[in-house]
Amino acid sequence: MRRDGKTPILGQSRAMETLRAMLRAIASSASTALISGESGTGKELIAQALHDQSPRANGPFVPLNCGAIPRELIESELFGHRKGAFTGAVTNRVGRIELANGGTLFLDEIGDLPLDMQVKLLRVLQERRILPVGAPSEEAVDVRIVAATHKDLEEEVRAGRFREDLYYRINVMSLELPPLRKRDGDIVLLTRVFLGRDWTISEDALRAIEAYHWPGNVRQLKNAVDRAQILANNNHITIDDLPLEVADHAEPLLTHATPVQTPAGSATTAFSAPTPVPRTTGVFTGEASALSAAVSVSPRLEDLEKAHIVDILRQQNGNKARAARVLGIHRRKLYRLLERHGIHDERPAV
Ligand SMILES: Nc1ncnc2c1ncn2[C@@H]1O[C@H](COP(=O)(O)OP(=O)(O)OP(=O)(O)O)[C@@H](O)[C@H]1O
Ligand SMILES: [Mg+2]
Repeated sequence: MRRDGKTPILGQSRAMETLRAMLRAIASSASTALISGESGTGKELIAQALHDQSPRANGPFVPLNCGAIPRELIESELFGHRKGAFTGAVTNRVGRIELANGGTLFLDEIGDLPLDMQVKLLRVLQERRILPVGAPSEEAVDVRIVAATHKDLEEEVRAGRFREDLYYRINVMSLELPPLRKRDGDIVLLTRVFLGRDWTISEDALRAIEAYHWPGNVRQLKNAVDRAQILANNNHITIDDLPLEVADHAEPLLTHATPVQTPAGSATTAFSAPTPVPRTTGVFTGEASALSAAVSVSPRLEDLEKAHIVDILRQQNGNKARAARVLGIHRRKLYRLLERHGIHDERPAV
C-alpha cells in the first residue's frame, strides 16, 4: 500500500511492462475497455489504475460485480428506481450508472450479466442515457465503462450466453492480463515485496515458489506468503511454511538436473554451498547455445546476485566490511544477503 492508499502494480517482466504501456494509452482514451485474465491476475487493480490515470480521475470510480448480485436486483442496482416503482421501492434510489457520472463504472464479471440486462446496457452505451425504473423520462449520463471478465467472452458469444453486439461495444480497447506463471521473474519479485523488510526465505522455499504454476495467480501468491509468515519462526520462511501443493515443487532443478559445465571464469564454479545450476542468460549469449541444450531455464537475478557477492568476497579475502563497501551496501545488509543466499565462508580457494 502506498501513502495515497493505492496498491502499486508490481512486476518488471516484459509482459508487465507491455501491460503498463497499454494501460497508459488506454487510460487517456475515453473508450470502453475490457480487461480479461485468469482469477487473481489483478483485473480490479488494473481497472482502478485505468481510472486513476484517466482524465476522469477526479470523478468517481464505481464498481459493480455483476456476478454477485441477484438477477432481480441488477436492474435497479444499475439504473436506480423511483419511489413506488415496485413493491419495496420506498424511496428513490440512485443507480450505479448515475453514481458513476463524470467518472468510471467498473462492471466486474460482465460475463455474468443476464441477457436482458445486456440489452439494456447496450442501449446505455449507444445512447448515453438511462431510464431509472419507474422514472417518467430518460436522463443523460457521462460515464466511461470498464468491464472485466475471467471468462472467454468470444466463447460465451458462440454459446449464445453473451450478446455479440455488446461484446463488440465493450471490447473497443482490450487488456489481457498474463497469468503470473508467464511473467518472467515476477514471482520472485512479488514474493520479496509481499514478504517485506526483515524477512528472509530459504533458497529451496523460493525455488519451490518460483516453480509452482500459481493457478490463482497474484492473489494466491499473496495468501501463501501471508500464511507462511504466520507459520514461520524468526522471520525466516522455510519450505515447511509453504502450502503443500507449493512445497511439492521444491528443488526439481537441483535434484534432477544434469550438472553442466560452467563457462570459464564464471563465478558460479566457485560456490561451496549447494551449487545452483547456472542458467542460460541473455547476457551470456556466447555460451547460451551450448548451455541451453542441457538447461532450459531462464536466468535468475537471485543466482547472479549470489555469484557476484561470492566474487567480491573472494577478491576481498573474505573481509566482509571491505566487501560491503565495494558492493555499496551497509554491512548489516551484506550479512542478511549472506544468510539469504546460504553463503558461509568465502575465502579464496588456494
Ligand atoms: N501486479 C500486482 N502487483 C501487486 N499486487 C497485485 C498485482 N496484481 C494483483 N495484485 C493483488 O492481488 C489480489 C488480486 O487482485 P485483483 O482482485 O485485482 O484480481 P482479479 O483479477 O480481479 O481477481 P478475480 O478474478 O478473482 O476477481 C489483490 O490483493 C491485488 O492487490
Ligand atoms: Mg476481481
